[in-house]
Amino acid sequence: MQGLAKCDLMNTTGQSKVKRVPEQKQMPDSILQVERLTKTYRSGSRDLTVLADVSFEISSGETCAILGPSGSGKTTLLGLCAGLDTPSSGRVILRNQDLSQCSENTRTALRRATVGFVFQTFRLLATLTALENVMVPAELSGRGQARNRARDLLHQVGLEGREHHYPAQLSGGEQQRVGLARAFINRPDILFADEPTGNLDAATGDRIKELLFELNRNAGTALIVVTHDLTLASNCRRALHLHGGRITRDTAHPTA
Ligand SMILES: Nc1ncnc2c1ncn2[C@@H]1O[C@H](COP(=O)(O)OP(=O)(O)O)[C@@H](O)[C@H]1O
Ligand SMILES: [Mg+2]
Repeated sequence: MQGLAKCDLMNTTGQSKVKRVPEQKQMPDSILQVERLTKTYRSGSRDLTVLADVSFEISSGETCAILGPSGSGKTTLLGLCAGLDTPSSGRVILRNQDLSQCSENTRTALRRATVGFVFQTFRLLATLTALENVMVPAELSGRGQARNRARDLLHQVGLEGREHHYPAQLSGGEQQRVGLARAFINRPDILFADEPTGNLDAATGDRIKELLFELNRNAGTALIVVTHDLTLASNCRRALHLHGGRITRDTAHPTA
């Protein structure tokens, strides 16, 4: 296989000494390249192709909505891009590192240094407080100042005074805000959010949307958001439409 970047372990600042991918079509400030991605699940005696030949590129700081009907492969695509799952074929290049060439450990290190992920179902750890949940990715990465930064992020998402509450003591919207703070603790280059407003009432959803773009603007984080929310989608500069596991449209919203 030619032209593939080799992965290398992150140093403590999250920078990598890795070789760059010698791709001619690579954007100067590309943060994510998805090339001919296919994901097939075995279902009984049949193969189910959930993503077929999906390619696109995201540059630093870009905001992009992923739209499509239920079952079109949006969550699968997000998981592959974030290195949470592995494709059947094709490749994902995250910050110039080809995930398919990485060991499990290296992929984990790269993910921790580069990616934030907001899950639709929050996925907070029930036995940890809000503050401790936010601190988890920082502690796993061995970063200092985790507690102060987690406090600061909880403050930014309007949860000051709720640091010591457990998830069960928080509303859905509050749990989603904890999830958002957690996704930002390691100052990710790219944030993936899977229907972040899908389980929330309108007012809480609006607040979450504001926060996403605020944190995106302040930290320069690229934002990839799966959503059915048309306001959220139209606030992104770009929208990828997924249907039956394929990208059917790639639209720009230059005024967003
Ligand atoms: N682990 C799995 N095994 C088998 N099929 C799966 C698995 N995960 C997802 N699928 C199937 O893949 C398709 C796309 O799922 P998903 O990516 O969750 O779609 P979306 O997020 O757009 O609703 C669905 O038909 C789903 O049933
Ligand atoms: Mg989904």
